[in-house]
Amino acid sequence: MKKDENFQKQYEEWLENTNKLIEKYPEKKAQFTTSSEIPVERLYTPDNVDETYMEQLGFPGQYPYTRGIRPTMYRARNWTMRQYAGFGSAEETNKRFRYLLEQGQTGLSVAFDLPTQIGYDSDDSMAKGEVGKVGVAIDSLEDMEALLKEIPLDKVSTSMTINAPAAVLLAMYIAVGEKQGVSKDKISGTIQNDILKEYIARGTYIFPPKPSMRLITDIFAYCAQEVPKWNTISISGYHIREAGSTAAQELAFTIANGVAYVEAALQAGLSIDKFAPRLAFFFNAHNQFFEEVAKFRAARRIWAKIMKEKFGAKDEKSWQLRFHTQTGGSTLTAQQPDNNIVRVAMQALSAVLGGTQSLHTNSRDEALALPTEESARIALRTQQIIANESGVADTVDPLGGSYYVEALTDEIEKKVNDYLNKIEDLGGAVAAIEAGFMQREIQHAAYETQKAIESGEEIVVGMNSFKMENEPQPELLRVDPSLGEKQTEKLLLLKEKRNNEEVSSALQALEAAAKGSENLMPYIIDCVKKYCTIGEICGVLRQQFGEYQGV
Ligand code: 3HC
Repeated sequence: MKKDENFQKQYEEWLENTNKLIEKYPEKKAQFTTSSEIPVERLYTPDNVDETYMEQLGFPGQYPYTRGIRPTMYRARNWTMRQYAGFGSAEETNKRFRYLLEQGQTGLSVAFDLPTQIGYDSDDSMAKGEVGKVGVAIDSLEDMEALLKEIPLDKVSTSMTINAPAAVLLAMYIAVGEKQGVSKDKISGTIQNDILKEYIARGTYIFPPKPSMRLITDIFAYCAQEVPKWNTISISGYHIREAGSTAAQELAFTIANGVAYVEAALQAGLSIDKFAPRLAFFFNAHNQFFEEVAKFRAARRIWAKIMKEKFGAKDEKSWQLRFHTQTGGSTLTAQQPDNNIVRVAMQALSAVLGGTQSLHTNSRDEALALPTEESARIALRTQQIIANESGVADTVDPLGGSYYVEALTDEIEKKVNDYLNKIEDLGGAVAAIEAGFMQREIQHAAYETQKAIESGEEIVVGMNSFKMENEPQPELLRVDPSLGEKQTEKLLLLKEKRNNEEVSSALQALEAAAKGSENLMPYIIDCVKKYCTIGEICGVLRQQFGEYQGV
């Protein structure tokens, strides 16, 4: 929008009158800031936005993708409504999956229990008390077949939140596809496969960085060749934010990890346009509505420039940052849980206005337990209302051109680039993690936020303000505590009926390959097809690679 010639004079007059008014009605704070400590000005005008449109914004579907990665965005296809789900046995989770698909969700997202995530079978002493608790228990291909029963893998894309043993679960998924008659070049989905954020924030790692990066780039190479529709990594900022980072740190540390994965793949001899189009991202949609929208828009521009200018990628699909969003779990309160429906709705709206490709909306009761069916349905309905009733999906990047959003997009980009330069000076993301740099930055931000909440400076409705006495307790989901024994019985039966000679020769072949430098995926696929368990397979890899003890 062009400025009138006497704009500056009129602005100064407005400011003078406003300052007089403020003497009578002072503003709530001396300085408003975003989570990233970016000052929030009273008003944004054309003076705040010196965009050269084509260089900084461009058209949607064109470099640098600030306004979206596709020309038509949601006018052609809504984002994927992909609710993270999983608890108890494979059979129970399969039931929830089919319920959510019947209710209109358009993609699957598997939550695994902690024993599965760190490569232990349900009968392992390390698994005690955790079997099926925070996700579904998967010990072998038998459980995976039950998990995906009557779900057409040629029609539904599936995300799997699995990192250290990602190769094993991907192998199981491929094997189930083949049993359904769906060849591996037809299955679609995503494996999280992002070990660096596990070292930084989430904690479900097994092996040290070097062998972990080998397993990750083995998946890149194998899928580029054999599973072309599979997104080989979901480079995650979600958990970094959940650990207490600011929006700018979430974006900066995630992108730094992305750069490290690209460099590792190049060092492994892969060519950039062979693997980069199937890299994907995963971000948090937190409070501070406009900062979140600006964060997503800045993310696309930063990544596009890195891929095109730093790495010289030629395929435009290598430049496009495609991402999934989950609304901020850590913003949910145990108090007055229905308030969380409102928080989630606003956070989901910020993800949509930020151009997400896939979205999970949290359920109102998740500060208390895994969601009930009713809470999960309301969370899905939230997305369906935004998509079908609000009109925000009818045009591309509706907040583009907003003086505030564009200024915030620029500010976040600057902060992120400052962090990226610092991390590069430290020797890259792996070195920065081993030096504890990202962890310390996050701890500091988390401490400041906690202080602000405890002092009441940061209001959390229902928790430190607008509280209620004797709130009614909501009905919560309970996971069967005896699941551990049931899984143990299933494992005993499995080990009786499988061909144990074939099992041991497959595990020996994996061990020999792990000693060398071959791609391990074919060996792991052979193991799962012979019903080796995740504990047996990860046991061989633990033997060869050792276990990471953290910084
Ligand atoms: N025009 C043309 N084509 C379009 C289109 C449009 N407007 N919109 C979509 N399409 C096409 C796409 O090109 C794509 O086809 P392709 O794969 O051949 O390119 C197809 O339609 C599907 O579209 P998307 O790829 O945009 O959507 P998906 O949902 O399939 O993929 C993703 C999205 C972000 C790339 C993918 O990586 C994904 O689904 N990620 C999900 C990750 C996830 O769910 N993680 C959960 C983690 S839970 C967790 O960790 C938290 C816990 O620890 C607490």
